[in-house]
Amino acid sequence: SLANMVIDNKQDGLFRVNRQAFTDPDILALEHERVFERTWLYAGHTSEIPEPGDFRSRSVAGRPIILVRGTDGVVRVLLNTCTHRGAQVCREACGNAKSFQCFYHAWTFNNEGALIGVPGDEAYSEAFDRSELGLASPARVEIYRDFVFISFDPHVEDLLDYLAGAREYLDLICDQSEVGMEVVHGTQAYSMRANWKLLVENSMDGYHARTTHLRYFDYLISTGVDPARVSGRRGGRGRALGNGHAVIESEPLWGRPIARWSPAFGEAKRAELEAVHKQFEDRFGAEWAYRITQTSRNLLIFPNLIINDIMAITIRTFFPVSPDYIEIYAWALAPSDEKAEDRAMRLDNFLTFLGPGGYATPDDVEALESCQLGFRNREVIWNDLSRGMRNDQPEVTDELQMRAFWRQWHTLMQSPQGSATIVRQPIAV
Ligand code: FES
Ligand code: FE
Repeated sequence: SLANMVIDNKQDGLFRVNRQAFTDPDILALEHERVFERTWLYAGHTSEIPEPGDFRSRSVAGRPIILVRGTDGVVRVLLNTCTHRGAQVCREACGNAKSFQCFYHAWTFNNEGALIGVPGDEAYSEAFDRSELGLASPARVEIYRDFVFISFDPHVEDLLDYLAGAREYLDLICDQSEVGMEVVHGTQAYSMRANWKLLVENSMDGYHARTTHLRYFDYLISTGVDPARVSGRRGGRGRALGNGHAVIESEPLWGRPIARWSPAFGEAKRAELEAVHKQFEDRFGAEWAYRITQTSRNLLIFPNLIINDIMAITIRTFFPVSPDYIEIYAWALAPSDEKAEDRAMRLDNFLTFLGPGGYATPDDVEALESCQLGFRNREVIWNDLSRGMRNDQPEVTDELQMRAFWRQWHTLMQSPQGSATIVRQPIAV
C-alpha cells in the first residue's frame, strides 16, 4: 500500500524506499494526479521569448504547451490544443508568430490566445461564441525572477510560498548578473530508460561523484587541479528547503565561470575574477558575494526542476513517459552581459560536463539504467537512503536532500485530490 512505500524511522536512523515506487504503472498514474497535477512545474524562462510574438512549444508533464509573448508584450502559457477538435495548433519548437493556425481545419488564434478565424463560420448558429473558444491556459501561471511556472491545480499555494527556502537559492543564481540572466538558445534533449525519481536522486547525489565519475576526476588532475583537493573531502552541506525542495551547496573543485579562479584558467584570469568578486561584494556584501562566486549548488525544486549551478548553470527538467522511461530537457543559463570568451567557456562546460555526451551524464545514465534493470529482481524490496540520518550537519555525501524529496512525495501520494490541505514538509528535517 502507499503508506508502506517509504519507511522513515527517525529513531533508529533508517530510511527506506520501496522499489515498487520506481516500477509500478499504478504509481505513475497516481503521480500524475497527486504530484504533477498539483505542484508548480517549470515551463520556461522569459528570456527565451524576448520579443512580441516569440514562442516556444514544448511538453510539460506530458502536456503540450506554448510559452508565448503576445503582441501586447505579456508572457503567457497556452495549452497547445485546438478548441475545435483537439489538434496541436503550434507544431514548431520555436519561432515568432502573430497567430497560430490549426493545420486540421484552419481555425486561427492570435498570439494572445483569442480565436480570430473560423473558415466557413456562417455554418454555425448564434450560440457559437468565438470569445469562449480561445486557447486555454493552465489554472495558474506565475513568474519568479524570469522563471515561468505553471500549475494545473487552481488551489495551489502562491508560487513564492511554494518555493519556501528554495527562493534563496534561486536568488543566488539570478543575482549573478546585474542586467539579468538569460537562457542560451538551444536545448539539450535526451532520454533515459529509468524512472524519473532516479534522476531526481542522482541530481542531488554527492555520494556517487567520486566513484561514478572517476574518469572526470582523473581528467581534472591532468588539467592541474591539486590531487589532494580531488581526493580530499569536499566541504559543503545538504539542506532540506521545505515542500520537498533541497540543495547541496559546496565549494567547487575548480573554477567557476563567474569568479573562482582555477589553474585551468591560467594566471591571467586571476585578477579579473578577483575584480568580479569585488563587484559582487560592493553590491551584496561579503557573505552573499562569497556564496555567489565561491560556492556551487545543485538545487531541486520539487518535483522535477534541477538547477545545477556548478561550473556552467544547467536548468534541467524531465518527465516520465512510463515508469522506466523519461524524457529530459536541459538549457544553459548565463548572465546576459557575459563576455564572449566567458560565454564560450560556459557553453563548452555545459556541453562537456552535464551534456548528454559529456563527462558526467553518460556515466549517470549508465548507473540509473542499471538501477532500473536491477529492480527487476523483485525479491529485493527496499532501497536504502539512510546515509547521514544522524548527522546534525549533513554533508554533501549524505542523503538528507533525497529524503526531503521522498517525504514530500510520500505525503502528496497519500493525499487524495481535493483534500483540504497538504501537510507541508518543514524546512529542517
Ligand atoms: Fe483545429 Fe479542427 S481541430 S481546426
Ligand atoms: Fe553524476
